[in-house]
Amino acid sequence: MHDARQKLIFALDVGNLDEARRWVEQLQGQVGVFKIGKQLFTRCGPEVVNMVQAGGGDVFLDLKYHDIPNTVAMAGLEAYRLGVKMFNVHALGGFEMMARLVAEIDKVCPRGNPARPILLAVTILTSSNEETLRAVGIDRPISVMVSKLARLAKDAGMDGVVASPQEVDLIRTACGADFAIVTPGVRPAFASQDDQKRVMTPGDALRAGADYLVIGRPISAAADPVAAAKMILEEMQTALEGS
Ligand code: C5P
Repeated sequence: MHDARQKLIFALDVGNLDEARRWVEQLQGQVGVFKIGKQLFTRCGPEVVNMVQAGGGDVFLDLKYHDIPNTVAMAGLEAYRLGVKMFNVHALGGFEMMARLVAEIDKVCPRGNPARPILLAVTILTSSNEETLRAVGIDRPISVMVSKLARLAKDAGMDGVVASPQEVDLIRTACGADFAIVTPGVRPAFASQDDQKRVMTPGDALRAGADYLVIGRPISAAADPVAAAKMILEEMQTALEGS
């Protein structure tokens, strides 16, 4: 039996601890994982991670590390010590950066240990287009870069990637079934697209092969966020049972 709740990640895109706490208290019945990004973590630090965990939630620490291998490995060890369920780095940091992180995590928490975080890589940000890439000297199509970077992450021992739902097929082809795919850009039929350009419904994203869905405004901007989260969970459960 799949537990859709553990596959639903709510984006805690808020500015302070009190607001974050209100969302966790409100959604903890529906949402298993809360994503903490740069703004909230820079403001609150580890306290916000502890708050989510005390409320029974797991944490996706979305800090997208990108630095020299030693710095990323040491930051990753701190993320592990915070007990987060998953955290991420930029695959553009390179093979050695990711492999060194994996090696350090292996030492403290071998594969198979339930406390081991899921190590995720970001390939190409969905805010980038081919013009953005050309301006930094990358002349290849986005789809080529996404598969190349996903494969690099897999070869370095990373556990999965964050990717748009449209890239799931590409990544499955490059990396196989045993590789986690976390997708933002998910919009249930009842919600607005906001600024997301290429969206999929929760059911379609799971059927396409996504493992976790990151959803923010379709829940936070709903008139009744708990009811919205419940509808999303039901749609996810139906898709998971059909797969
Ligand atoms: O509100 P919404 O559902 O669009 O929120 C999606 C979340 O996923 C936000 O925190 C956003 O920053 C993040 N995200 C994204 N697209 C990416 C990577 C992360 O929307 N490629």
